[in-house]
Amino acid sequence: MKLIGIAGSIADQSYNRTLLQFIAKHFSGLVDVEVLDINDVPMFNQDDDQTDGAIIQNLCKKINSADGVIIATPEHNHSVPAALKNVIEWLSYEVHPLDGKPIMIVGASYHIQGSSRAQLHLRQILEAPGVNAIVLPGNEFLLGDVKTAFDDKGDLKDQRTVDFLQTTIQNFIKFAKVINMIGETNNYEEEDLSAQNGTDTTIKGIDMNADDWLDRAANKVSAAEGNDYVKLDSGLLTVNQLDYFLKTIPIELTYVDENNQFLYYNHSLPTEKMLAKRTPAQVGDALDKVHPNIGRVFKHVKQVISALRNGETDLVSMPIPGGDPQKHHVMHYYKAMHDDENNYKGVNEWAVDLKPIVDEYLKATGQKLVKDPNAKMDAMSGASKKTTEEKPEVEVDATSSASKH
Ligand SMILES: Cc1cc2nc3c(=O)[nH]c(=O)nc-3n(C[C@H](O)[C@H](O)[C@H](O)COP(=O)(O)O)c2cc1C
Repeated sequence: MKLIGIAGSIADQSYNRTLLQFIAKHFSGLVDVEVLDINDVPMFNQDDDQTDGAIIQNLCKKINSADGVIIATPEHNHSVPAALKNVIEWLSYEVHPLDGKPIMIVGASYHIQGSSRAQLHLRQILEAPGVNAIVLPGNEFLLGDVKTAFDDKGDLKDQRTVDFLQTTIQNFIKFAKVINMIGETNNYEEEDLSAQNGTDTTIKGIDMNADDWLDRAANKVSAAEGNDYVKLDSGLLTVNQLDYFLKTIPIELTYVDENNQFLYYNHSLPTEKMLAKRTPAQVGDALDKVHPNIGRVFKHVKQVISALRNGETDLVSMPIPGGDPQKHHVMHYYKAMHDDENNYKGVNEWAVDLKPIVDEYLKATGQKLVKDPNAKMDAMSGASKKTTEEKPEVEVDATSSASKH
């Protein structure tokens, strides 16, 4: 993965540039980071547009061809330095290379708060409409007391800080992969998250967003229930048996039909204990009611569904960011469902914490995890587009503003 590093400082000796150079050197097995200079960027002035000049064009070209950007910001007067803001102004005027670009923010400052206020402000700036970058949520890396943080070779002295930095970079790699993958999806705007089109199995005449949709809709179609038998492809079960079965699968399952209506989840835990929070009242809802329309969430949900519906990919998988990676590795998977004639029938979504599974495997086989110094995060792969008609390439990974439930 190719990343661009931008230090928001034009000082000859900049701790933030040192931090980026350390990242480039120390994590070269994970990512390829090119640190750019912003020293010669002219002062932004609408009356003297230098967008076409070599300096802005070069920045633009480098950012366009990268998979993501790491910005290291100093803190000046509780905000980002003017030099950094200046660059962002150029990159949100006549050219917009940061639009849709995954960004990770880090920062170093002299004082204990380690650029926290500048970082918060930078998030806001990067999300302004003209900039429209996609900033890695959570995962703040703040380097306070920076004057004592590096040794004379420019390496961070504290191993725990290095380990934490590595975790945030690994999270960013996964995040950037998903953002870039869904960014390639076409025709997603046609996805109707309000589920107005209906399909042959849509139950008409009941408000799908009503809290009691399940009871009313079941009543309307005289749905099988209790000890009624249901003939399945390879089995015969009662409705109760199906429920026992689905509820004890140690994975959170969700069924969304081809009309983008959320029809089912295997409700066995209270909402607050779920990995992907659901409530019984949400059953039956159109997807635009299930997902809050915050930031780019609708866009990403549409992109994921469109990629599945149109066969661009068969599986989208993404880790849910945040949390302690030593304790949990929660994954979301979205798999396209099809009928016998290969018509798209919706999304089978499941969420699972892989960490206990890995732990169990290690225990059973007497193995332990060790760090691979040569590991490339790319080896974990990302949900990828099909490369051939017949065989969807299904690989694992990536993150999640794509679909927050
Ligand atoms: C004008 C000015 C304002 C500053 N304001 C802050 C501040 O609000 N908070 C803070 O932690 N450091 C502040 N500092 C010190 C910065 O932490 C420090 O200059 C910067 O982070 C070093 O980054 P660099 O070496 O990459 O340039 C300020 C420095 C200057 C010159």
